[in-house]
Amino acid sequence: GPIPFKDVVVDNVDLVATMPAERSSEDHDDVLVSALPSKPMVGSTQNKLRCYLGFWLPETFVPAAIGLQRRFVPRPDDVIIASLPKCGTTWLNALAFATMARRCYPPAGADHPLLRLSPHQCVPFLDALFAGGGREARLDVLPSPRLMYTHMPHEMLPRAGGCRVVYICREPKDTAVSLWQFRRSMHPELPFLDTFESICSGANTYGPFWDHILGYWRASESWPENVLFLRYEKLLRDPAGNVRKLARFVGVPFSEAEEEAGVVRGIVELCSLGSLRSVEVNRTGYMDGLKFPRKALFRKGVAGDWANHMTPEMARRMDDIVADKLRATGLTF
Ligand code: A3P
Repeated sequence: GPIPFKDVVVDNVDLVATMPAERSSEDHDDVLVSALPSKPMVGSTQNKLRCYLGFWLPETFVPAAIGLQRRFVPRPDDVIIASLPKCGTTWLNALAFATMARRCYPPAGADHPLLRLSPHQCVPFLDALFAGGGREARLDVLPSPRLMYTHMPHEMLPRAGGCRVVYICREPKDTAVSLWQFRRSMHPELPFLDTFESICSGANTYGPFWDHILGYWRASESWPENVLFLRYEKLLRDPAGNVRKLARFVGVPFSEAEEEAGVVRGIVELCSLGSLRSVEVNRTGYMDGLKFPRKALFRKGVAGDWANHMTPEMARRMDDIVADKLRATGLTF
């Protein structure tokens, strides 16, 4: 049969490239997308946001939320990377792929897929797969264990199945700045205020951000063996420690021999910002279908960049929202 990861890479190179063309306002079983509340999407003239089950999803991905809930059949050894956009998805995808695929692709190998492909080409994107066209059937033929990623809130994932989810969370002010910078790679004139306001209002892509974060936070508290809650800032401080945690969580802990051979260090280096950024495919060209330059995924990679772009008033306002929404949850920033 197909070899896990070896064949996944081959199968999924074109996933994002084959994003379905605009699909809006269709009837999905009993959900009429065009009847859902809508808002414009900052920085996009083609797509808008629709409020589905309390979350503002890109209209083209509403069918994916419905499809995921109703038709996604998780396997017990599935691993799903989950995040809000700009929280370190690309990095975590790379780390998880390098960790789980290390038997067929040692991190120091000259033929490692991450030296040739974008991390997003190595890990299938559930939201795009379920967005239409029946492409989700591709998931059924993938050998176990499957590694996938999503930006959907926890509420959109099916309850049953017991698969493992790794969530990455990032300080909201830094996430806001990162999102704006990312949008500027397509629209250089875009003012920060539009992105900032939409994030604060909750009506931003996959938002409200606090409900997104809290959904996974609560799930990680209730089912710690199924949901691992990681933080971008902790990953920056201690990448190796977090990679070990990730490996244990997904059931492939590093052996003593691997530790001695420097496998963990190799994975951390292979997936470092400097290393990924220097890969040809990550430096040049555009993310097919999504129209953004691929290098926009690899920008600064630090904590605290918000201070360079926010006034103290803006920072306070966002901190107050976070403090208010996270009160008594045990989660702090
Ligand atoms: P900045 O814009 O603050 O630099 P996502 O992958 O979810 O879109 O998140 C993008 C953010 O992760 C960007 O943040 C990007 O620079 C950062 N990033 C990407 N690869 C990284 C890596 N290997 N290590 C650390 N940060 C990384």
